[in-house]
Amino acid sequence: MKRTLGTCYYPEHWPEEMWVDDARRMAEAGLTWVRIGEFSWSRLEPTPNDLQWEWLDRAIDVLGSAGLKVVLGTPTATPPRWMITRHPDMLAVDAEGRPRKFGSRRHYCFSHLGYREESRRITRLMAHRYGRNPHVAAWQTDNEYGCHDTTISYSDAARVGFQEWLAQKYQSIDALNRAWGNVFWSMEYADFGEIDLPNLTVTEPNPAHAQEFRRYSSDMVVAFNRAQVDEIKDHSDAPTSHNYMGRVTDFDHFEVGRDLEIATWDSYPLGFLEDRVGADAEHQRAFARQGDPDFQAFHHDLYRAVGHGRWWVMEQQPGPVNWAPYNPTPLPGMVRLWTWEAFAHGAEAVCYFRWRQAPFAQEQMHAGMLRPDSVDAPAVAEAMQVAAEMQDAPDVQPAQAPVALIFDYDADWAWSTQPHGDGLSYFGLVFNHYRALRRAGLSVDIVSKDTRDFTGYRLILAPGLVHMPDDLKLALDDTKAHVLCGPRTAARDQYFNIPHPLPPAIPGLDLYISRVESLRPDMPLALNGGGAVIGYSEELEGTSEAVLRTQQGAPVAMTSDHATYCGGWLDDAGLDRLIALLCGKSGIATRAQPEGVRVRQTATEEFWFNYSATAAETEHGSLPPAGVLRRKL
Ligand code: GAL
Repeated sequence: MKRTLGTCYYPEHWPEEMWVDDARRMAEAGLTWVRIGEFSWSRLEPTPNDLQWEWLDRAIDVLGSAGLKVVLGTPTATPPRWMITRHPDMLAVDAEGRPRKFGSRRHYCFSHLGYREESRRITRLMAHRYGRNPHVAAWQTDNEYGCHDTTISYSDAARVGFQEWLAQKYQSIDALNRAWGNVFWSMEYADFGEIDLPNLTVTEPNPAHAQEFRRYSSDMVVAFNRAQVDEIKDHSDAPTSHNYMGRVTDFDHFEVGRDLEIATWDSYPLGFLEDRVGADAEHQRAFARQGDPDFQAFHHDLYRAVGHGRWWVMEQQPGPVNWAPYNPTPLPGMVRLWTWEAFAHGAEAVCYFRWRQAPFAQEQMHAGMLRPDSVDAPAVAEAMQVAAEMQDAPDVQPAQAPVALIFDYDADWAWSTQPHGDGLSYFGLVFNHYRALRRAGLSVDIVSKDTRDFTGYRLILAPGLVHMPDDLKLALDDTKAHVLCGPRTAARDQYFNIPHPLPPAIPGLDLYISRVESLRPDMPLALNGGGAVIGYSEELEGTSEAVLRTQQGAPVAMTSDHATYCGGWLDDAGLDRLIALLCGKSGIATRAQPEGVRVRQTATEEFWFNYSATAAETEHGSLPPAGVLRRKL
């Protein structure tokens, strides 16, 4: 397959006379794809049922005639103002009970059936008009579900929907009361209609209640998306996609991904470093112009799984963005590095956001490939360099990694429902494991909790997977791989109760957790031999062999030939030791990487990326800052 480049374009932002030249310059820059349409509803339907397709017909025609392929976005992330007049109760409601206002974007509640129908209607009309258009080669549903904290809404529509969802799931109110333990604090209900949303309670709500509301809210995103996909599929054979984000875990992306052919995501390495990675100030300073060395790769690997192998970067940062606490310019070469890194992880396409910087409205301070005056911004040259390099180079051949890391959205909600200590997050825990694997020079596949066939993996990690279904335990026990669990893996049943007998009940390990504690940042538990438990610690009892212990002698990790359980949140030094130990057990060779250097293997090649701001010495020579090294295996 030929990997390709693209950009995001807003023809409705520019006078029509500019379109032809823009399209020509895109094609000349080596771009294949152009995504359009995703915020254009007020121009497509300025007043209800007054549909204005002609401008979009012409835009698609101009772009297609220049040889570009169009990704057409449904415009439902930005319902126009008249929609709010029509459905005043469609606005999402925040946890304080306040409706979120019109005047930016994503101002809708996923549970509102009237709006879901409107979104289905505009999608149907669009698919009907463009489903067979030869230039429309892919679809994007909506834009960034969940962005700006919009998955969860405490609206009336959500309350009613949640009650129905619970009635379906539990069938009887007694079953729900029992499953949730509602006898505690006299929280028992007589009827599903009495159950409110878990916000504005005096103190914390029942975690089972909170967790079920998270699951319900995620299901509403899936249903909203599916309504659009159904309409598109009726009229078009082009693949469907959605553009997900970095570290947004409020809905189950694997579930949404089941209904789409391609997963895409929006990669803003410098914005994320300031906003989402959760690193300390020193790390942020060191990587301020390059981005975190693992954050992009983690999402590449995650979305490859969400897209069943087919994934793109739909929006790639081209220069400074506007939305993070600080928005520096990337180091020269980083746009090229980010692009090649995506390809090394198997991306089919990388599209830069956006074509031309907007001189008006919210994103004036967000760079594009062109400046507002249409002169090339630095990203163009780097994109053109990648396009030229792609011409000469063999195609990337993705390969299965030796290590699988399970990522689960439900577990992420469980940790945030019941963190037990400040700063403890599932994403943070899994990402720390991912980083440690990459520091050891390993390529990683991220897989969902629904995976049952682990053929080919030598090491499987399932840290923090709060609810571990029994058949997953059995499937893992059946593999030839070594399996790492803990902390908190299998700690709760599906109703958020502590299982009996005590967790984790991992086949082949004789151990259970008798007590857990969270730790202040200034009270690490040092390990014998280096590293420490920080933040969270479990007391392990049992006869399995202890391979990590605190300096006081308490077991922290216990092992058998086939599985290891680690009962502590380890610092980096501790995790490096644990990963070395696991790789030893599973026969995987490791190669410690210089600071900021990361390696990714494909079937035939190895890619090396230097994220550090200085030259790095690798086993294949010196790599300059932003350097990419590609060599045959
Ligand atoms: C994304 C979004 C784009 C644009 C971009 C700016 O989250 O999908 O529409 O806002 O961020 O970085």
